[in-house]
Amino acid sequence: MKHDFDRIIERTGTHALKWDGRARQFGTEDVLPLWVADMDFAAAPAIVQALQARAAHPVYGYTTRPDSLSEAIAQWMESRHDWTIEPNGVLWAPGVVPSLHAAVLAFSAPGDGVIVQPPIYPPFFSAVTTTGRRLVENPLVYDRGAYRLDLEHLEACAREARMLLLCSPHNPVGRVWSEEELRSLLDIARRHGLSVVSDEIHHDLVYPGRRHTPTAKLAAAHEVVTLAAPSKTFNIAGLGISALIVPDAQQRTALEQSFAQLHLSANHPFSIAACEAAYRHGSAWLDDLLAYLTETRDDTLDFIAQRLPRIKAITPQGTCLLWLDCRAMSMSDSALQDFFVHRARVGLSPGAAFGSAGRGFMRLNLGAPRAIVREALERIEAALAG
Ligand SMILES: Cc1ncc(COP(=O)(O)O)c(C=O)c1O
Repeated sequence: MKHDFDRIIERTGTHALKWDGRARQFGTEDVLPLWVADMDFAAAPAIVQALQARAAHPVYGYTTRPDSLSEAIAQWMESRHDWTIEPNGVLWAPGVVPSLHAAVLAFSAPGDGVIVQPPIYPPFFSAVTTTGRRLVENPLVYDRGAYRLDLEHLEACAREARMLLLCSPHNPVGRVWSEEELRSLLDIARRHGLSVVSDEIHHDLVYPGRRHTPTAKLAAAHEVVTLAAPSKTFNIAGLGISALIVPDAQQRTALEQSFAQLHLSANHPFSIAACEAAYRHGSAWLDDLLAYLTETRDDTLDFIAQRLPRIKAITPQGTCLLWLDCRAMSMSDSALQDFFVHRARVGLSPGAAFGSAGRGFMRLNLGAPRAIVREALERIEAALAG
């Protein structure tokens, strides 16, 4: 492996949310932080070089999005996901969460129902509630240690909704939806005239044996808007850039109006330089990252199965996240958080933040040098024994 993911890079003192935000998040600095979904790895050399080159030019004014940026993401989709997209159909934004909000504003009206499938990344809830839309929840089914879509209940939800916010692959449970599942979901959406917005930010982080299917590849042009970004793939979330893939011209206009209304119409020049470099030159780095994450995932699953009998890990098919069923610990959510923070000294994301379906669960971020993940697991083991 050419790239060194074992290297421990000190992030404290860089205003890193994951590290410097510990006191605020957990009430103590004394935790190994495996919470917010960025990784403790250096970015690909091509990205660092592109940023250095851009920084070397000393004028940092308002910056346009060059056509070459949309061409770069189109090439990426073609080569990594076997998906042909039209560069003219790509809009750029400062993030996927702002894009979720913009899409809700563009494709629904106050009071309309918007379907989300918990447990789910918390901004899916707030994108609906803060815009005055109505949450329609279609919880995933958790059955024998695995999650699936509840297609029957989705049909009922679709009758009272205008939109569906899909997370594919799914944060926090790590499912990579199969083509068959996506086709069934799209059939329901079509029958009920739902707009589908598919957040595919984790699409490049998929483990061997599974393949990500872009939802839009299975649908007509106007049926699906895809949200994508280099931020999870290349660990550049702090740079703030994402894409919306919108084949339908009317939908593009509606989205552009939403962004204009929110005054989110530009990108930071550094984000543009990094994003294009990532998509053009980041493939080999990503392959190394995936090999590293796969080994970390497998080691972690073994450790938990053998040494943490009261915790059950849900095997992720994608994402760098690991969803832990801690219900056998028989603790309330606040006691569980207290146990991990103060007894184990490990900072995880509490499952209850992902909706009531996440109560009794915790989310652990595997995106760190293996020695750190290992130390976190040993701390949990010691706390459970003590
Ligand atoms: C499903 C999902 N969407 C969006 C984001 C964040 O996107 P952004 O930082 O571009 O707003 C995350 C980050 O964890 C995520 O997991």
